Amino acid sequence: MLCCVLFLSCQNPAGTNFTHMKDPHSFAEPEKVVVRHLDLNLKVDFKNKQLSGTAKLDIENLSGESELVLDSRDLSIEKITIDNGGETPFHLEAAEPVLGQALRIHIRPLTKQVTIIYKTSPDAAAVQWLSPEQTAGKKHPFLFTQSQAILARTWVPIQDSPGIRFTYDATVTVPKELLAVMSAENPQKKSSDGVYHFKMPQPIPAYLLALAVGDLSFESFDNRTGVYSEPSTIKKAAYEFAELPQMVNAAEKLYGPYEWGRYDLLVLPPSFPFGGMENPRLTFCTPTILAGDRSLTSLVAHELAHSWSGNLVTNATWNDFWLNEGFTVYFENRIMEALYGKDFDDMQKLLGQEDLRHTIDELGDTSVDTHLKLQLNGRDPDDGMTDVAYEKGANLLLLIEQKVGREKLDAFLINYFKQNAFKSKTTEQFLEDIKTLDNIDQKIDFKKWIYGPGFPAEHVTINSKKFEHVDQEVKKYLEGAAAATLDTAGWSAFEWIRFVRALPEKISVEKMRDLDSTFNFSKTGNNEILFEWLQHVIASNYEPAYSALENFLVQVGRRKFVKPLYQELVKTSNGKVMAKNIYSKARGNYHSVTRNTIDEIVGK
Ligand code: BES
Ligand code: ZN
Repeated sequence: MLCCVLFLSCQNPAGTNFTHMKDPHSFAEPEKVVVRHLDLNLKVDFKNKQLSGTAKLDIENLSGESELVLDSRDLSIEKITIDNGGETPFHLEAAEPVLGQALRIHIRPLTKQVTIIYKTSPDAAAVQWLSPEQTAGKKHPFLFTQSQAILARTWVPIQDSPGIRFTYDATVTVPKELLAVMSAENPQKKSSDGVYHFKMPQPIPAYLLALAVGDLSFESFDNRTGVYSEPSTIKKAAYEFAELPQMVNAAEKLYGPYEWGRYDLLVLPPSFPFGGMENPRLTFCTPTILAGDRSLTSLVAHELAHSWSGNLVTNATWNDFWLNEGFTVYFENRIMEALYGKDFDDMQKLLGQEDLRHTIDELGDTSVDTHLKLQLNGRDPDDGMTDVAYEKGANLLLLIEQKVGREKLDAFLINYFKQNAFKSKTTEQFLEDIKTLDNIDQKIDFKKWIYGPGFPAEHVTINSKKFEHVDQEVKKYLEGAAAATLDTAGWSAFEWIRFVRALPEKISVEKMRDLDSTFNFSKTGNNEILFEWLQHVIASNYEPAYSALENFLVQVGRRKFVKPLYQELVKTSNGKVMAKNIYSKARGNYHSVTRNTIDEIVGK
């Protein structure tokens, strides 16, 4: 019989029913045998760029199976034992390019524990090993992992699917001069022997496993928040994020208690490939948001919001990615509005809508990648991680808010996070839930939003007086006014971003020079503004800023910035030469996530 079984029911220890959605990006068979707890014991070897040790898994064999299936990629498995030490046979299947290898381990019906003795490859895709020169302090090496979406399997043999949660403990041994931190309860200072113990008592999916090791110091804000960074940036970081306690309070006031104990930040070296990563208890973030004036902290609000949307209620598969990111952008905006007011938040929303239109233009307005429900089967989930999930997703929630009113949507969301805490959801399950809200399915064409392309014409229109003013000043400038005569007093980073974006792509050298000497764009400490400016620098062949461009591309590995810049460069033959030249210096500084993307644009 050829039937398509999508929901596979099983029993959890408490005896209640739950469902696993078949995940196209994992070999795991959680409906048969499921991992409940991980006990990780790793030694960090900087010289050989290798993590080695054991992953001890507590499993539940739900139907008396003789095999446990895990995900692995580029791991070298030395030996596997079960329960009290007997060796057990295992088989590593042939590698698939994106998914890696299924690790099939022989177990018995009553097996409770499986211990895998293994080593990672120096090229493990999740892990970036930084030399001392690639850090701020220049004295010690640094390491960090990035597991989302399906890279956890390159450093831990595990069921690597967002629909499967487990608790974890870890012991990590590092060189004595360094501190280790994880997505768990963390130490705040170095130990004398370089051995660190971690505990994550709340169940998490594998993509939230994270480790960083480096010369780190810590500053606290209040009794539950603080920041880690290299010693030379800790003061700057402590200033930048000083409003963290208010952010957590604002988030709790919106959608209920923060369920994870502490909320700390870790500022990474500039090669970190993302803006931020919502590793539970310890958000990892790029140093490119250290602007000196707290103007880019909405990124922290975003990662904090994931403590509810994403970490508490998780997308069941990567096809449901918008449930993580769309909800989180909406929530992020609500936090920023609560703290800084509506005018501020409207600017952010408008920039988001602009990003969305731009992304849809790029993908093509009939592309399936512009659907909220993604179709990533047989593809790298990374291909679906575009602004569509973020901004189209957030705009759907905004439209719901407009139709039913904020009060009702908030009540729904508080309940949604409470009822679904520590569970994974599919888009279809969300649709079932939202239907209960005020006949909303008669007011919004969910099919069109979720299973259709583009940005539906019926979306919330946002007006911003502040942006209208910026647009007027741009107009004046284009009509010939000198930069120094423009009224830019008191502009926030958002207004500057709007201004630079609104300039025509190609500008004369004289005008570029006038802008740069008046507003100092090439030297700005605000990386979001610099990024917008550098796109004009490339399009307008503005040579005086080429060194700023090269410095930026060699230092910073944040993909959101470097990808569009290389794309802009390779549009012309001169630019191609420049791109190749810069990339040859920069490539070694990038994390694999960024390297894979830029390899496709520039070539290796
Ligand atoms: N969870 C994402 C980062 C991510 C997504 C990593 C998909 C790997 C695969 C994180 O929350 C995020 O969205 N970061 C954004 C910042 C945010 C303010 C939009 C980023 O890194 O730019
Ligand atoms: Zn996010």
